Amino acid sequence: MNHKMPWNLAQGTGPIMEILAAFFVGLCCVLLSNGIEVEALHNGCQNFQSHTVMLQEKQPYRTSFHFQPPENWLNGMNRPMWYKGVYHLFYQYNPYGALFGDIMIWAHSVSHDLINWIHLNHALCPTEPYDINSCWSGSATILPGKGPVILYTGIDSNHRQVQNMAVPKNLSDPLPEEWTKFPQNPIMTPPDGVEGNNFRDPTTAWLSPDGKWSVIIGSWSNNQGMAILYRSEDFVNWTKYQDPLYSTERTGMWECPDFYPVSVNSTNGADTSVLGAGFKHVMKASFNSHDYYLIGTYAPGMQKYIPDNDFTSTSKDLRYDYGKFYASKTFFDIDKNRRILWGWVNESDSIEDDTDKGWSGLQSFPRHIWLDRSGKQLVQWPIEEINKLHGKKVGFLHKKLDSGSVFEVQGITASQVDVEVVFELPELQEAEFLNPTGVDPQLLCTDANASVKGKFGPFGLLALATKDLTEHTAIFFRIFKGLKGYVILMCSDQSRSTLRDEVDKTTYGAFVDIDPRREKISLRSLIDHSIIESFGGEGKACITSRVYPKLAVHEEAHLVIFNNGTLSVTISSLNAWSMNKAQIKHKENFIGKASH
Ligand SMILES: *[C@@H]1O[C@H](CO)[C@@H](O)[C@H](O)[C@H]1NC(C)=O
Ligand SMILES: *[C@@H]1O[C@H](CO)[C@@H](O)[C@H](O)[C@H]1NC(C)=O
Ligand SMILES: *[C@@H]1O[C@H](CO)[C@@H](O)[C@H](O)[C@H]1NC(C)=O
Ligand SMILES: *[C@@H]1O[C@H](CO)[C@@H](O)[C@H](O)[C@H]1NC(C)=O
Ligand SMILES: *[C@@H]1O[C@H](CO)[C@@H](O)[C@H](O)[C@H]1NC(C)=O
Ligand SMILES: *[C@@H]1O[C@H](CO)[C@@H](O)[C@H](O)[C@H]1NC(C)=O
Repeated sequence: MNHKMPWNLAQGTGPIMEILAAFFVGLCCVLLSNGIEVEALHNGCQNFQSHTVMLQEKQPYRTSFHFQPPENWLNGMNRPMWYKGVYHLFYQYNPYGALFGDIMIWAHSVSHDLINWIHLNHALCPTEPYDINSCWSGSATILPGKGPVILYTGIDSNHRQVQNMAVPKNLSDPLPEEWTKFPQNPIMTPPDGVEGNNFRDPTTAWLSPDGKWSVIIGSWSNNQGMAILYRSEDFVNWTKYQDPLYSTERTGMWECPDFYPVSVNSTNGADTSVLGAGFKHVMKASFNSHDYYLIGTYAPGMQKYIPDNDFTSTSKDLRYDYGKFYASKTFFDIDKNRRILWGWVNESDSIEDDTDKGWSGLQSFPRHIWLDRSGKQLVQWPIEEINKLHGKKVGFLHKKLDSGSVFEVQGITASQVDVEVVFELPELQEAEFLNPTGVDPQLLCTDANASVKGKFGPFGLLALATKDLTEHTAIFFRIFKGLKGYVILMCSDQSRSTLRDEVDKTTYGAFVDIDPRREKISLRSLIDHSIIESFGGEGKACITSRVYPKLAVHEEAHLVIFNNGTLSVTISSLNAWSMNKAQIKHKENFIGKASH
């Protein structure tokens, strides 16, 4: 295990413990406008009740193995954590409706395996002047020997964004469900030069070699997107450092920044405070509806982050996902020594649709994330626990796909399936030429959809397809000869995904940085009713899409392989598993936890 902390927390009974003693108790009752008395946490918002109606399982777009609340709106992710044997997921939630709301809270779910979840009472609801207009995103940090502390953005009574702190009400509780806010909140307010609406989303804190805690806050100031750095000796008294840890004129306002070490030579994760020659640092920021990242060096002595390559404001900038994926967070899973990434995947249908179905927003399937051997990009892969949901498997080896081939993968539930297909191209040198310089892969995919013939490609999957292919989402590759080596284009084409209008059918695309002379061209897709998460080149390029077929639902959905290139390609292997449904339930079902 390489996650050993490079430091020692000296204070045995530090300030956090003392503060705890001063915290207050806040469970009480509220009267709803209809006069019905309900139990509420800190009188801020109504918890999920055991009788909260779990939405119609047969709704065609409800997912079966992605995390969703029982109803209503979910957005960005608050940093998940592993604590005393249990995974905790906190997420932004509107308890009052299926759209983004004026009052957002922290909902809270727990899991033993990141697959099956239990909804607990809400962790943070607006109650105090410093968060009365919403509890927005933030992160948990586990203080060694002391337990978790939440830092979160409150929207205060003046509609300013301020940073607040909360700790478990009962530190002996292995499953901290109730959280107590620090009476001296806010602990950070917008500094000079930063507007009150551009100061949010604290990261998980890390401990620097000088023994101080550091945390960054997303911001926009002086026409620069930035990570404002705060430092503290005791986790309570935070001082803004003179300069941001990193800032740039090439982005918009930074939301949900994330900052963490990645091992240079293994897929293992590392605690956020780990430093050393064997690690690079990732800086992620959310802007322009995408999650972008840099790989670089953290120089704690200078309080600086130095990226290997800076943002360019072009399609060359690295993204976690080239489809829908935003406001993500990672956490270090100390139990399995890996770093895990989750992102928010929003809807592509209309506001009216969301209101009708009673919910919107999904969490991506959790992804193991690590630094590629090249050191140039990150790699993501569905966590291994997905195997627990694998049902019936079908598979085959060595099948040649001549030009124009279309055939169905039969014997699986195509509306909820995990499929991985590996292609081989025998005569690569016949590929068409493409100069990729300055080319936006998304535009290439948009201009040449799955009906436009090339030489090598389009070939790939047709997901959530009707039998007659009237509806389908095409996830496919095109292979080109480039200036040096080959260019692999991966596309997710939603243009024929549904007969319904009023749906965003944007096509997505990415280049996959693999060399087909040495590496096989592979595609894995997690298909789950209205979401398709695709991993190209064993996780080197990810594209997530939301689709809403009108006809290709439940038993009417099919999974098809196609090759519309003029040259043949060979499937060296295909494996597909029908997916079982994850158990996502109310807290009465959590073993070892008494309900009240
Ligand atoms: C705190 O949690 C522990 C462990 O679950 C429990 O035994 C104890 O009664 C709790 N204390 C209070 C005040 O609820
Ligand atoms: C907070 O920390 C700063 C910087 O270390 C220090 O100057 C200040 O006195 C501290 N304030 C309190 C109340 O401890
Ligand atoms: C690579 O990993 C090994 C352990 O697996 C470690 O001993 C070695 O120092 C690492 N190399 C670098 C450059 O970090
Ligand atoms: C959510 O989806 C819509 C429509 O598909 C898109 O225009 C918007 O930018 C997305 N929002 C975020 C924050 O990703
Ligand atoms: C696919 O591309 C072709 C050629 O540009 C175009 O004629 C056709 O309308 C496109 N199909 C869809 C569904 O967008
Ligand atoms: C493959 O090409 C044919 C002929 O252009 C077209 O009719 C068909 O729709 C294409 N397949 C897909 C999946 O786009």
